[in-house]
Amino acid sequence: MRQRLAENPGYVFDNTTVHSREQHHCLTAAYDPMTLERLAQTGVASGWRCLEIGSGGGSVARWLAERVAPTGEVVATDIDPRHLTERPCLTVAKHDVVTDPLPSATFDLVVVRLVLQHLPQRLAVLGKLVRSLKPGGWLQIDELDTAYEPPLLTPDERAQELYETFLRTKTAVMRAAGGDPQWGRRVPAAMRAAGLTGVDPQLRLQLRHAGSAALRLQLHLTHHLQDRLITAGMTEQQLDEVRALMRDPSFCAVSSVMYSVHGRRPRQEKDGKGGKGVVS
Ligand SMILES: C[S@@+](CC[C@H](N)C(=O)[O-])C[C@H]1O[C@@H](n2cnc3c(N)ncnc32)[C@H](O)[C@@H]1O
Repeated sequence: MRQRLAENPGYVFDNTTVHSREQHHCLTAAYDPMTLERLAQTGVASGWRCLEIGSGGGSVARWLAERVAPTGEVVATDIDPRHLTERPCLTVAKHDVVTDPLPSATFDLVVVRLVLQHLPQRLAVLGKLVRSLKPGGWLQIDELDTAYEPPLLTPDERAQELYETFLRTKTAVMRAAGGDPQWGRRVPAAMRAAGLTGVDPQLRLQLRHAGSAALRLQLHLTHHLQDRLITAGMTEQQLDEVRALMRDPSFCAVSSVMYSVHGRRPRQEKDGKGGKGVVS
């Protein structure tokens, strides 16, 4: 475990644990509606060449593979691709986006969801993703900002404080690993600084209430991150109590903000001397 963390210090979740299937199930249920709606807006269609970084459970890559069939290709990568399966038009690759190379000027569309915010090297990785786009190619980055996720309905003040303690500790765990819990709000400016045009941010909130995917994801986090939450100061009793709170049918809170941001690699880019040069 210590060795694995040393290899991938920015990533607090882990595809090797018993919790990872539930994590990917929750992410799919909570965020695919927005991610897929935004991907459809790019016009992705038969023949496109697409790349998904950190595909996790693979639902986005599978959707893309159906859109680009029969002549296109989707490459789904992950540092630990154990949950990914190949199918027509879908290739799976074990790939560390921080250290492994990507081909340049290759993809019509690159999508990355909930990966960069975990990686201390996120800006360097963003540059690498931009270079992998064909001129005119699309980049879609979907990431959270956890600064706004207030509780709305709790049984009493103590329960509200407990939930807020959980939120604060979760954020501290991510920061301690080099993550940026507010990365979502920084994505548009980072994409523009990386040379993309037509940067188009959209954002979405959900309600966390009993039975919702958004709340089930939080409940899941109390298990997946249990050791780290305890190291960061929560007690086992507090974790049990916050789990019971999140199972209370009357509990309701606001989700963190999900940003989905589009940008395109210019068809013509400035060359190193400030003039216009055609990208190969
Ligand atoms: C929070 S999950 C998100 C999964 C998926 N993108 C989604 O939104 O449903 C992050 C994924 O990124 C992968 N990952 C973490 N560090 C990575 C790296 N350096 N290179 C490639 N993938 C990485 C993890 O293994 C995990 O599957």
